[in-house]
Parts: sequence; structure tokens; C-alpha cells
Amino acid sequence: MDKLVIEGGIKLKGEVTISGAKNAVLPILAATLLTDDACSIKGVPDLRDTNTMLKILRSLGKNADMEKGIVDVSSAKACGYVADYKLVSTMRASFCVLGPLLGKLKKAKVSLPGGCIIGVRPVDLHIKGIKALGAQVDIDSGYIIAKADTLKGAHIYLGGMYGSSVLATDNVMMAAVLAKGKTIIESAACEPEVEDLAVFLNKMGAKIKGHGTPLIEIEGVRHLHGAAHTVIPDRIEAGTIAIAALITQGDITIKNMLPQHLGAVIDKLEESGASFVRAHGALRVRRKRQLNAVNVTTLPYPGFPTDMQAQVMALMGVTPGISVITEKIYPDRFMHVAELNRMGAAIQREGPHAIVEGKKWLSGAPVMASDLRASASLVLAGLAARGKTAISRIYHLERGYENIEEKLQKLGARIWRQKE
Ligand code: UD1
Repeated sequence: MDKLVIEGGIKLKGEVTISGAKNAVLPILAATLLTDDACSIKGVPDLRDTNTMLKILRSLGKNADMEKGIVDVSSAKACGYVADYKLVSTMRASFCVLGPLLGKLKKAKVSLPGGCIIGVRPVDLHIKGIKALGAQVDIDSGYIIAKADTLKGAHIYLGGMYGSSVLATDNVMMAAVLAKGKTIIESAACEPEVEDLAVFLNKMGAKIKGHGTPLIEIEGVRHLHGAAHTVIPDRIEAGTIAIAALITQGDITIKNMLPQHLGAVIDKLEESGASFVRAHGALRVRRKRQLNAVNVTTLPYPGFPTDMQAQVMALMGVTPGISVITEKIYPDRFMHVAELNRMGAAIQREGPHAIVEGKKWLSGAPVMASDLRASASLVLAGLAARGKTAISRIYHLERGYENIEEKLQKLGARIWRQKE
């Protein structure tokens, strides 16, 4: 297994181009199951998670190959309806094949994804949504088995204990596009990745309105056809790079990004002392002044994303003052706290809050990545720290950041891979 070694203390400078959004591409690839026609998806990041989704599509009877960021999907044989535990257990997002399989075949058997390091992660909203469309749902031997003679449009409230759900909205939307009649999803997730999925579904012939808002209306159609689509840029990768500029006191121009998807992050970082200058679709990020501590609360979109919580915590770890970071989506998503503290940060967890006392500097140390965004926070801390940081279990990072070492190296970082 590889580890990532970073010699910190370099101010990152230059330009970086953001890859396609992982959380948009995964359900979009799953949506190709809704048609037997060929589909072409562009801007696909070469990530462990995208490759897992391609394996799932192949296991369900599709040809699905990636070349230079383009995935062409076509039907090799009749579409299967069983998504196996071996594949689903490696990536939670595989659960989003449930909606398209049920929509297209009126039956689906998909392994339950289980919890993960960031918390319990239930699927009650997914089940509630497909049941409302008329599916009969059983759980057997770790699989969810859903079937229906016909799916019928329904009025579905999809809000849960922690607000809306991204993948439940995706799943219900994909099941409803081929249902009879009209479906209304209330308290739908508004994340740009959900919107991008709806744009792709509409290109396939679906009739979806209101995507990007909490009220989505879907008029069921009989048939979907093939379509081509370019995936939106990854707002979380862009946000992570913005923090890399700030934490290293650097100056980075981020290309291929949509600043409107990062409103809450930009606003918070500006409050802390960052300068963002927009020009020709790019965003230049640097410090306007010495940063100050800010409080951050994660919320569903358009609030501050939980997927940026660990990264902003690394930044607050070296920013003078006290910052309170409150996690409202996954109250247990704090695995990075202990690792950041190993590097000299002073972070105390109190239930869903982390109280961060900014230090003058962090010191490089051997640390362990526990999940995708926690890994990103350790990379950021390592870039800012004095001395050498060695991050093990970097396969987590490979799930969501395409060519991250090369991108950081181009900005001047001393970062390399080493065999454990
Ligand atoms: C997606 C993202 C993930 C991000 C998360 C929250 C993908 C592939 N992943 O995950 O990167 O961190 O959104 O923005 O897009 N919940 C329920 N019942 C359910 C489903 C969810 O209570 O049936 C809860 C979850 O436990 C969590 C909250 O709802 O507390 C939001 O989760 P959700 O939006 O579903 O996350 P994912 O779609 O799995």
C-alpha cells in the first residue's frame, strides 16, 4: 500500500484545473441503466469510485469503458437487476442503482450499503420514496428487494432527521421518471449534483422540473433514450484547493469551476480574510490579510457542505483565535480530529461541535487517513506543517481526488508517493 509524503511549508502558486464532480458522475452513470441506448458521459474523473461504478454497470450487462475522461456506455446484454454485495460494500454511492433498476425493470435487488466510518447512514428515505411510488420492498440477507407491477407517480416528502438526502432524491427521481403520472418530491436535495443528474435525465427524454430547488416535479414518460452529457466540475475539489492556497499563504487560480456552487464556502473564507477574484470562469484565491478564526456550521446545500468540514478544520487549526465547527449532517464525522491533533492542532470535540484553538504552526507527523475528506484535511495540514508528514491509507483520497499529487506538485508542493 502506498503512503503520501509531504514536506510542508511551501506557498502554493499557479493554476489548477478542477476535474468532473464525483458526486454528479456516479448517479449519472447509474442513470444510463434507464435506457438500452448508448450514452456518452464527458468530464468523468478517473477515480476509484468511478471505476467501481463502471464495474457495477458491467456486472449489470453494460459495456462501460473510460478513455480520456469519456465514458461510453452501451448495452452488451439484457440488463441484470442484482447489484452484488462485493461491489456495493466498497462504495456507498453504488446504492443509487436502485432507482434506475426499479424504474426500468420494475425490480431490483441491491445490497444494503451498511454504515461507514462517518456514521450510521440509514436508507429509510430511499425506501420511503420508492414505496410511495408503489414498490413492494423487502429486506432479505442484507439485500433490499424492490418490485412493482407498475410504478405510479406520487407526492413524496423526502426530508429526514438531518434534512434532505442527496442519494435518496437521486434514487426516487430515477425511479419516478418512468412511472405513470406525476411525482412531486418535497424537501428534495438541492445540491448541484442532483440538479446535474436531472439535466442528464431530461436529455434522455425525462420531464423533470424544479431540480435545484426543494420541490421537484416529474411527469412520467414511457421511454428514455440515449444522451450525451458533460459532468459539472467538482465543487469540493475546488473548495479543497482554495483552502490549500490559504493554508500555505499561496496564490492559486482555479480553473474549470463554478463559483456559484461554492457560495457558502467562499463567503466563510472571505469572512476569515480570503480574497477571491473571479475572471473568465476562473477563481483566483489568496489571502487578503492575516486570517481570523470563523465559526462554521454544515448544512444541506446551499449551506456549508459537510464534505468541506474536515478541510476548513485544518485551516482553522493554524488560524489565530477560537473557531467552533458544528457538524449537522453527520454528527460523528470527526475522525480527522485525533489525527490533526497528532500534528500539534488543539481541537476538542464536544458532541456535534469541534472547538479549534488555532496554533502558530503544525508539525509533520505520521498520520492515518480514515475517510475521503479526512484524508484531504490531512494533506492540507501536511502542506502547511513544519517538517515531513506521511499519510497512510491514501486509497481513501483516491476515491475522490483525481491526480491530486500531480496537481499539487504543479503548484510547487513537495508531495510524493512512497511504498509503505
Ligand atoms: C451524499 C454525498 C456525500 C455527502 C452527503 C451529504 C454522494 C455520492 N455522496 O451522500 O459526499 O457527504 O451527500 O451532503 O453524492 N439520511 C437518512 N436517511 C436516508 C438517507 C440519508 O437519515 O435514507 C441522513 C444521512 O444519515 C445524513 C443525511 O441524511 O445524516 C444526509 O445524507 P445524504 O444526503 O443521504 O448523503 P448521501 O446521499 O449518502
